[in-house]
Formats: sequence, C-alpha cells, structure tokens
Amino acid sequence: MKTEIIRIDPENIDENAIEKAAEYIKSGTLVAFPTETVYGLGGDAMDKNASKSIYAAKGRPSDNPLIVHIADVSDLYKVGEDIPERAALLAEAFWPGPMTLIVKKSSDIPYETTGGLDTVAVRLPSHPIARELIRRSGKYIAAPSANKSGRPSPTKASHVIEDLDGDVECIIDGGDVEIGLESTIIDLTEDIPTILRPGRISLSDVIAVAGEARMDPGLSSDDESVRPKAPGMRYRHYAPKGELVIVEGDRDAVIRKISEQCGDHLAKGDKVAVIASSESAGDYEGVRVFDIGAKSREDEIASNLYDTLRKLDEEGIEYAYSEAFDTPHVGTAIMNRLLKAAGHRVLKV
Ligand code: TXA
Ligand code: MG
Repeated sequence: MKTEIIRIDPENIDENAIEKAAEYIKSGTLVAFPTETVYGLGGDAMDKNASKSIYAAKGRPSDNPLIVHIADVSDLYKVGEDIPERAALLAEAFWPGPMTLIVKKSSDIPYETTGGLDTVAVRLPSHPIARELIRRSGKYIAAPSANKSGRPSPTKASHVIEDLDGDVECIIDGGDVEIGLESTIIDLTEDIPTILRPGRISLSDVIAVAGEARMDPGLSSDDESVRPKAPGMRYRHYAPKGELVIVEGDRDAVIRKISEQCGDHLAKGDKVAVIASSESAGDYEGVRVFDIGAKSREDEIASNLYDTLRKLDEEGIEYAYSEAFDTPHVGTAIMNRLLKAAGHRVLKV
C-alpha cells in the first residue's frame, strides 16, 4: 500500500493535517504518530480488526497485548473496571506522561487488543500530536511502539519510515521524540503496585506516590521459571544484527578491556564499534566510537540509545562493545533495554 506521510509541527498543529490523520483512525486504518516516549502505531482500540492490522503490520505475536491511549483521566474508568484508588493518585502525579497502568479490562475492549488477557494497559500521553489525534478521532487508540517486532523502538520519523513504509496507511512526522524509552508500566492488579517495565518514572517515584511498589521479580531473575509478567518483556528485543557485549567495572579497566577487544577484532579485519559516554568517548583510539551522551545528563543517553542501536546495523558493525550506563535515575531503564539488546552478554572487569 501507499503510505501517506504527513508532516506536523507539534508546536503549531495544523488542523487540516491532524484531521486527515484522525480520519484514518476513524475509518479503522492505522496511523503512526509521535508520543513523548517513542513513536506509536495506532488504531481504534475498540475495533478488533484494527488491532489485527497492527499485529500484522508489526509482525508481532498476537499474544503480546497493546497499550490503549486515552485523552482524559476519566477515560481510564471507561476502558478499565474495578480501578483501585491508587490509580487516581498515580494518574494525578504522572499523567499526562510516560506511565502505563495495568487494570482489569472493561468488557467493551476486545480481546484482540489485550492479547487475550482480562487486563488492559492504559496510558494518557503528553505529546501534543498524540493528544490531538486521540481527541479528534473520538476513539481510544491502541498503539504499540511503531517498529517491526524485535527492532529498537522508533524515536525519529525516519525510523518509522524505515520499518513501516508501505505497511500502514499513514505516518505522522512530528520530529524527534523527547524521552526515547518506552513508558514505565505499573501493574495495579497485584496486592502491591508492580513495575513490569522500567522507564523514566522510577521505582522510587512510584513509591513516593503510591506508598509502596516493587519491581517485577521476573525482570532480574536468572531463573527460567520466573518470567517477566509483561508478555513483551519476554521476547528478544532491540537486538542489533552484530554481536553486542556490555563491559562493566571500574572506568579505566573498562576502557582498557574494550580497547583490547577492539584491537583483536581490528587485527582480524572485523567491523567493530564502541558505545561510550561523552565523558570517555575520547579515550578510544583507532576505532569507530558512538558517543551516546553524557552520564551527567542521563536523559541524553536515554534519548540516543535506540538511534545508536539502529546505526550499528546501518554501518554493518559486526562486533560492538558498550560501556554500562547505570546512571542514578533512568539507569535502570537504560540498562534493561541495553541488556536485552546485548542478549545479556556482560563482561565484568
Ligand atoms: O511508551 C510506550 O508505552 C509506547 C508508546 C507508543 O505509548 N508504547 C509501547 O507499546 O511501548 P509496546 O506495545 O511496544 O509495549 C507494550 C508492553 C508490552 O511489553 C506488553 O506485553 C505490555 O506492555 N502489556 C500490554 N498490556 C499488558 C497487560 N494487560 N498485562 C501485562 N503487560 C501488558
Ligand atoms: Mg515495543
């Protein structure tokens, strides 16, 4: 199919342009659009055929549920049921914004949207284009990240075009996203709020508002029988085509180890690269270095991560070594994605 690409300035939304995009949603077809976290691939959440089209376009397994995007907090009580009081507190603190809440689903939401589950993931995004698209369509918009299944989530319109041009009716180019990592997912169907996917909103942020919270034990377990609760967190993800290894430890030892590994590969004629923070990018010699941003400005690292992973493939990198970026606030989320991308290959020095 021919994909219509509509350029919209988020600071000055053109009415006709957004109306045109909303028409695609209303007619049951798909629109990729920017949110503050990553680009999403949207369709009418109440239309099971739209949800089926989303799975088909992404090449996504149909047991991996979609997030339902809403325009107003009150919509949470329409797409969900038995909403606990904590939801209101969290919504008040973090919506609109990069937080997704898991609650019991209302019977109106088709199982095609929730991957067969009786619960539903709900998010009220803050990006002006996302909000205007939901409002104008008059629908709740089911949207996973707008990448092909297994690829890094898109943080630029060009990433979406790379993955989905020809597979969806419309792509809104609204520029680069701000955060660059997907929303924090909080499961409110357990006794204690449980983070199923870390994001910019951290465990301590959630505890400060909800009184208590924990990380899903499946996220950090080496035990195969303790699996992540979010279906999407079980799949291999974000992985570049080449081999990615994370090197962890004391700063100087890490630089020495990575330089040594790169030297060995270069001697064999392999295409090799380093992913480094701005603080140490200048310390590697004779090798391709991706400066991912400053540790002292950790949001920069978060927003560059997926673009850097995509660039490894674009440049045909066969072996890549990355420093660890366990920064104070978003470090948990950054390392969660980086470890997945590396297939959990870590060298400790
Ligand atoms: O920031 C985001 O959340 C972006 C933007 C577009 O909003 N969306 C996004 O969607 O990351 P997606 O589909 O790529 O990731 C959704 C994650 C998956 O891991 C999925 O398994 C999980 O949420 N999920 C959805 N519904 C769930 C449910 N009812 N129970 C447990 N996990 C659920
Ligand atoms: Mg995704």
